[in-house]
Amino acid sequence: MAKVLFEITEENLETGMRGYPVGYCVTSSVDPQKGLTYVGIPVIKLAEERPEKVIFLLYHKYLPDEDQLGKFIENLKNRAKLDQKTVSFIRQLPKEGHPMKLFISALLICGMTEGTGNYREDCLNVIAKIPQLAAEVIAHHAGWKTGNSDPKLGYMENFSQMLNVPQGDREQLTRVFRIFNVLHHDHGGGNLSTFVGKAVASGLEDMYGSLAAAMCGLAGPRHGKANQDCLHFVEEMMAEAGENAKPDQIEALIRKRLENRQLIYGFGHAVLRVEDPRATVFYDLAERLYSKNPLVKMAHLLRRVGPKVLKENPKITNPYPNVDAISGILLSASGFHYPEYFTVLFGLARCVGIGIQIVYERETRDGKGLPIVRPKYFYKEAKSS
Ligand code: MLT
Repeated sequence: MAKVLFEITEENLETGMRGYPVGYCVTSSVDPQKGLTYVGIPVIKLAEERPEKVIFLLYHKYLPDEDQLGKFIENLKNRAKLDQKTVSFIRQLPKEGHPMKLFISALLICGMTEGTGNYREDCLNVIAKIPQLAAEVIAHHAGWKTGNSDPKLGYMENFSQMLNVPQGDREQLTRVFRIFNVLHHDHGGGNLSTFVGKAVASGLEDMYGSLAAAMCGLAGPRHGKANQDCLHFVEEMMAEAGENAKPDQIEALIRKRLENRQLIYGFGHAVLRVEDPRATVFYDLAERLYSKNPLVKMAHLLRRVGPKVLKENPKITNPYPNVDAISGILLSASGFHYPEYFTVLFGLARCVGIGIQIVYERETRDGKGLPIVRPKYFYKEAKSS
């Protein structure tokens, strides 16, 4: 008899399918205690590797030797440049609304102008092209002049050059962009954007459309936009408590917010029950590089005080910081103080993992792929309105 993995009772309905097993993820896994691993390797060990090497790992499921990595980098370089037609359509997109809307549109445009209809081929193409796509979107929205694409520079080095942040210190930005990219590539199979991308692909929508749908999932404040909202929260705390705030002041502010039923941003996670290891990497880096930055100091204070207060509520299963508590603060401290674009940077990275997971789901079961996603809903009489 097949093993029972999970029992669904009425209480599980309308809970966001929290924890329901639905399949396999071959790229990464999120353990409540140990956090994120890529192909079995704790992400902390990979954080400072070059993104191309980590992408190789996620794509091929083993770490490359120098020769293998060199060939892979060459392959990505040859696919990296966007067609001029794609670029000119992106530059005509309306600028109203959140930049994620432009990013999502740009993915659809790229699918129309450059899609091949082959999941595996399109996956590598998107991975290679997405730095330019994101740079074009941000620069267009911000009114910056993009730098020339030179894929020889390296994956995120070229992104920095293309993005051409006004008055930005390219070296510092690149260092932080690289780590940000690696830590956001993948987060298991069940996070909203990944699940949505794979669900849409199960209807045999192509890679670009599936990723665009995934990015709509990422755009919401409960998912990818949380990094932007966390920065605002930390700024608000600083405005209220001042740059030299003491822990007891922060504790009082958190308690006041909780009393007023206001959100405390950057704490808790659907799966994790410890501090998010991605956050730990960012806190350490922020401390090493920007310890005097007032936002970094405030983020560290919140890291110290937040769990203490949140733990008092027995309903809170995870009172610890998640990645969004510090990722945007680090970007800001490095000179990228443009919170509107933080989620686009998250999307740039996450398309890698989602794309690779989609390829797996389209090729598994001896090439048949997974069937179309089709869960069941019970009919319920609702009050007339
Ligand atoms: C992520 O990186 O996708 C977030 O931590 C959300 C999640 O895992 O559910």
